[in-house]
Amino acid sequence: RRKIIIDTDPGQDDAAAIMLALGSPELEVLGITCVAGNVPLTRTQENARIVCEWAGRPDMAVYAGCDRPLSRELVTAEHVHGRTGLNGPNPLPVPTMPLQEQHAVDFIIDTLRTEPSKSVTLCTLGPLTNVATALTKAPEIVPRIKEIVMMGGAYFEVGNITPAAEFNIYVDPESADIVFKSGVSLVVMPLDVTHRALTTPARVQAFRDIGTVAGIAMADMLAFFERFDVEKYGSEGGPLHDPCVIAYLLRPDLFKGRHINVQIETQSQLTLGMTVADYWRVTDHAPNAMFMQDIDADGYFALLTERIATL
Ligand code: BDR
Ligand code: CA
Repeated sequence: RRKIIIDTDPGQDDAAAIMLALGSPELEVLGITCVAGNVPLTRTQENARIVCEWAGRPDMAVYAGCDRPLSRELVTAEHVHGRTGLNGPNPLPVPTMPLQEQHAVDFIIDTLRTEPSKSVTLCTLGPLTNVATALTKAPEIVPRIKEIVMMGGAYFEVGNITPAAEFNIYVDPESADIVFKSGVSLVVMPLDVTHRALTTPARVQAFRDIGTVAGIAMADMLAFFERFDVEKYGSEGGPLHDPCVIAYLLRPDLFKGRHINVQIETQSQLTLGMTVADYWRVTDHAPNAMFMQDIDADGYFALLTERIATL
């Protein structure tokens, strides 16, 4: 079983990613670490626990981490995810499972120190503050990380929070910069991939038809989440970003990409948080990321439906 830590800011699509992981016997989720992002940390840590309870896993260890980016004010995305971050299911339950006392950053460091070297994959679904803080605080863990698989950035699809930047990178570009320069092997799921993974009415209905607590919660969350893109852009559904990270661990064959050099813009006001991807290899900078660009969306939703049905 592949050992993972999920670093997240739930968010309906984060919730879907957590459920996919908890429904997948190939993965051993060592812990869920929460960060400020879509909504403030007080909500993301509570939301992660709600999702574990929906998945029938109140035993899962959930940690709270950084409550703001390294050197900027927090930017949130209630306009997409609603006031709670998990709008949709009504009423939203109050979790009863505990929050761990340890700080998420210390949990990440301790886990990487004690687990065998190169056995733990970090799955990041939000701003990279917790991970960058861990890498800076304990640089000796860097070579022990197997891989970081992240949702973040964009190439052709460019921005969703500014014209140039994707939300997770934009919120904490200094942390993203640390991660992209760390030397850890990176797999990136940018908007180019996730905007091809749309929650069409038939796909949402398939979750509802499962008929379980988890299946109905998924359908209710996605029905809320997709209204943003459907109303604003007239698109067929909402882009189901974050589960791409988990799906890649289970079915890498669903994705196509290129190993290229990616750098993060941290200075410019206009393009802050842009993932400057050397897609055509016009520089001689060494590749640092497997930057995905395409997905088999039907295969992806079939996998999600199958696994969430097991919860
Ligand atoms: C990313 O930002 C958040 O709103 C989503 O949860 C996803 O991680 C997409 O840009
Ligand atoms: Ca997220």
